[in-house]
Amino acid sequence: MKEKLEALKQKALDDLAKVSDAASLEQMRVAYLGKKSELAAILKGMAALTAEERPIIGQLGNSVRTAIEEAFEVAKKHVIELETAKKINAERLDVTLPSKKTDKGNLHPLTKVQAELENIFLGMGFSIAEGPEVETDYYNFTALNTPEFHPARDVQDTFYITDKVLLRSQTSTVQVHVMENNKPPIRIISPGRVYRSDAVDATHSPMFHQCEGLVIDKNITMADLKGTLETFAKAMFGDKTKIRFRPHHFPFTEPSCEVDVSCFVCGGKGCSVCKGEGWIEILGAGMVHPNVLRMSGIDPEVYSGFAFGMGIERIVMTKYGISDMRLLYENDTRFLSQF
Ligand code: PHE
Repeated sequence: MKEKLEALKQKALDDLAKVSDAASLEQMRVAYLGKKSELAAILKGMAALTAEERPIIGQLGNSVRTAIEEAFEVAKKHVIELETAKKINAERLDVTLPSKKTDKGNLHPLTKVQAELENIFLGMGFSIAEGPEVETDYYNFTALNTPEFHPARDVQDTFYITDKVLLRSQTSTVQVHVMENNKPPIRIISPGRVYRSDAVDATHSPMFHQCEGLVIDKNITMADLKGTLETFAKAMFGDKTKIRFRPHHFPFTEPSCEVDVSCFVCGGKGCSVCKGEGWIEILGAGMVHPNVLRMSGIDPEVYSGFAFGMGIERIVMTKYGISDMRLLYENDTRFLSQF
């Protein structure tokens, strides 16, 4: 029995020394320390021993059990270490790996110029007004002194949703909303999308952007309009920029004009950007027509005002020397990343 116990101890210690994973460790716990283990079987045989042998074998049995238990604890510690190391290894992050290159985006030139435009006018005490892109014909035409037979109302020029509802063809609609809802003094700009039934080419798009301006107060004159637009032009195109007014016609302003800026590339001598003119047209403007004031509830005997409207695409193209408007809508990042 003694030899059996010694042999069992040796076998158990050898096996436990070799164990390297949790599953075989558990198998060994059952095999060497469990209720049905070999050790338990041997110790059951003690009943057949003599009274002298029994305490000796009992002691030996206990020391074998303790030795196996100790070896088991050592093996358990070893297995935990091994399994932890395995786990750490499997979850390892290589922080020295170079990161994936991400391209840095930039603002679209239209967005950039619109923000610049807003800043210039905010600096002059204007605030920003908004209006709907889907309008009634009243706001787009009637209230802007554009009667029913006016050619601008033609289906060729305007996107109608019903007889009376359309996509606004100009931001001038916002003038009317602002005058209806505010008492003078009024000083607003309103940038936004407008729609016209134009075929796409280098200078036309059925959707484009405008920025409206409206100032109403007592004693507003065309000199105020000129001073405001000159300040704007110098801030947008450079300090040397000059402006000029050419007589024009708009139904909602009287007098009306178109406004040109001196070419910032050639300074007025004539070049490819200004097409030899020395001047570049950037907007329409004028003194708000008394009918327009009256229809929106403002007394033209007390108040006067000016309005202007510019195409933002036109400003972007002029400022950056872009000759084809389609480039602004094609979303080619090789083009857009230049701004
Ligand atoms: N709404 C005009 C246009 O789209 C521009 C304009 C605005 C002219 C305000 C005068 C005053 O052409």
